[in-house]
Order: sequence, then structure tokens, then C-alpha cells
Amino acid sequence: MKTIVIYYSFGGSTKAEAERVAAENDAVLCRVEETKDRSLFSTFVQGAPNAKYRKASEIKKIDQDLNLFDRIVIGCPVWGGYPAPAFNAIAELLPSGKEVELFFCSSGGETPKSSQGTKDLISKKGCRVISYRDVKTGKSPGKAKD
Ligand SMILES: Cc1cc2nc3c(=O)[nH]c(=O)nc-3n(C[C@H](O)[C@H](O)[C@H](O)COP(=O)(O)O)c2cc1C
Repeated sequence: MKTIVIYYSFGGSTKAEAERVAAENDAVLCRVEETKDRSLFSTFVQGAPNAKYRKASEIKKIDQDLNLFDRIVIGCPVWGGYPAPAFNAIAELLPSGKEVELFFCSSGGETPKSSQGTKDLISKKGCRVISYRDVKTGKSPGKAKD
């Protein structure tokens, strides 16, 4: 089974988890970047409200064809209880008929407000959510140096 781990990370903790999952599953790793460079301030004043309304951010074109994979693992940080807007952009790229695994990195490690809606969003793309995982990073909000 061919697996890809596709992720967005602002502060680096989702990146670290994505790298771990990819290595464990012998999967292709694909980093998603937003077209506009974000400040920490903008994650709070614009990013978190957009996350709540399930708005997709603009992302750079990815260099992988998701059609070629059987299983797609998506990782994203949690902003204000909801997946960061890049998650919605990743969801829009999903071809139907795929098995999807989700993991969400947050300081507290919980997403009770959004988990069902997030799974529904993937189902609406014609994909099957086979796992959903909250990852507690304990990391306070901050921008990665790279
Ligand atoms: C705008 C913003 C909102 C956040 N909201 C939450 C939250 O609601 N619950 C939580 O536990 N952590 C929250 N966090 C913390 C991040 O989810 C946490 O630091 C996560 O590990 C970040 O992943 P990253 O390093 O890949 O960006 C928030 C961080 C930011 C920047």
C-alpha cells in the first residue's frame, strides 16, 4: 500500500510528528506551505477565525500526485480548537476513494469542538477516515525558524 504523509506546520511540531509517521510507515513526506508568509500575530487575528469558519488558505502547488497513493495521512496544527486553514486547502486536493488518516497537533491535545465536522469534511470528498488522532505537543504558539 502506497502512503503519503501530507502536512502543514507553523511552529515545527506537526513537521516533527509528520516526519516520524512517514519514517515509521515508509511513506512519502509532503510539506504544504501557504503562499503568504504568516506572522504569529496573523495566526491569531486572521488564522484562528478562518479556521473556525473552515476557510481554506492559499497554498503553494504541491509536487506530488495524490491519485497515486492508496492512503493519505494529513497532519495539521490546531488553532482555536479547529484545524488551521491550510488543512481545508489540503482537504480540497483529495481525490475521492482514498483512505485518510488524520492527526492534529495542539498544546492541549484535544479537538472536541471540531473533530466530527473535520471527519465529515473528509467524507464529503468521497474518502474514508480510518483514523483520527489528537497529538499533545505541549508546545506554546510560535513560528519555526526554518
Ligand atoms: C493561532 C493559534 C491558536 C492555537 N489554538 C490552540 C488551541 O485551541 N488548543 C491548543 O491546545 N493549542 C492551540 N495552539 C497551539 C498549537 O496548536 C500547538 O503549539 C501546536 O503544537 C502547533 O503546531 P506546529 O508547531 O506544527 O505549528 C494554538 C496555536 C496558534 C498559533
